[in-house]
Amino acid sequence: MSEATPILEARSLVKILGGNRVLENVSLDIGRGRVKVLIGPSGAGKSTLLQCLNFLIPPDSGHILLEGREVEKTSKRELCAFRQQVGMIFQDFNLFDHLSALENVRVALMKVKGMSKLEATERAVAELKRVGLADKATLYPANLSGGQKQRVAIARALAMDPKVMLLDEPTSALDPELIGEVLTVIRDLAQAGMTMILATHQISFSASLADEFIFMERGRIVEQGSPADLLARGAQSRTQAFCSKISELTGESGQSGQSGESGQSGESGQSGESGKAGAERRL
Ligand SMILES: Nc1ncnc2c1ncn2[C@@H]1O[C@H](COP(=O)(O)OP(=O)(O)O)[C@@H](O)[C@H]1O
Ligand SMILES: [Mg+2]
Repeated sequence: MSEATPILEARSLVKILGGNRVLENVSLDIGRGRVKVLIGPSGAGKSTLLQCLNFLIPPDSGHILLEGREVEKTSKRELCAFRQQVGMIFQDFNLFDHLSALENVRVALMKVKGMSKLEATERAVAELKRVGLADKATLYPANLSGGQKQRVAIARALAMDPKVMLLDEPTSALDPELIGEVLTVIRDLAQAGMTMILATHQISFSASLADEFIFMERGRIVEQGSPADLLARGAQSRTQAFCSKISELTGESGQSGQSGESGQSGESGQSGESGKAGAERRL
């Protein structure tokens, strides 16, 4: 594989759900260490795309390549190996409620990666530490805040050593005051070189992080480019129009990616913007 080969590539993905073409010929690729952000209105197909990229739902047609090699979707063994390399983070965390934080992170290390309990425990502790939760290892999801649950989910995905992470609105289900702690972890991951595709409405945060914005509507990519270009004053892009609409709802500055505002201060909602997460969910 050459340096230029994308880590993950989707070619002409089509997905039909309930008789509707929810993804219409979607193609994208992402190189090592890059961050791409999916934006667009509710129902655009962002979640469907992320789930197709991970084969959680199989596309009806199209191709997915990992490091230049097409994934053989009929082989269970290959799909299992593929999913280990493409981590997925969901809006609603998807933790096992009957397992502690440590056990949530450890279980796949033992069952899928075949590690011994000792080895898996050491790795799980290290990953919980990385997301700032070393002291919460014994707690069950019921006793963790939403932000902590999402960080456990991120630790669990990281423990599998993924080559790319797909994050589907990871802060949408969180109370505003908990969003910042998850965004901080995502920023740390990006700075550590993790390749990520992220669906989010956290515009100023993602503008400061992303190499590219991908704007989707009705199952298609209708615009893509650097946040600086798409959000530049006078750009008149679809992305800009959409982002201004979000800003109106949340009070966030749609241009803030340009002004170097940090995601943490801009988006953590510490000032009690209680409408923000709600607006994010509504969009
Ligand atoms: N299981 C399903 N059956 C029928 N339609 C679905 C199903 N899942 C999603 N859809 C439709 O697919 C479209 C895209 O949904 P989704 O990928 O969730 O969009 P987004 O994440 O951008 O909000 C929506 O119109 C949604 O109603
Ligand atoms: Mg979605």
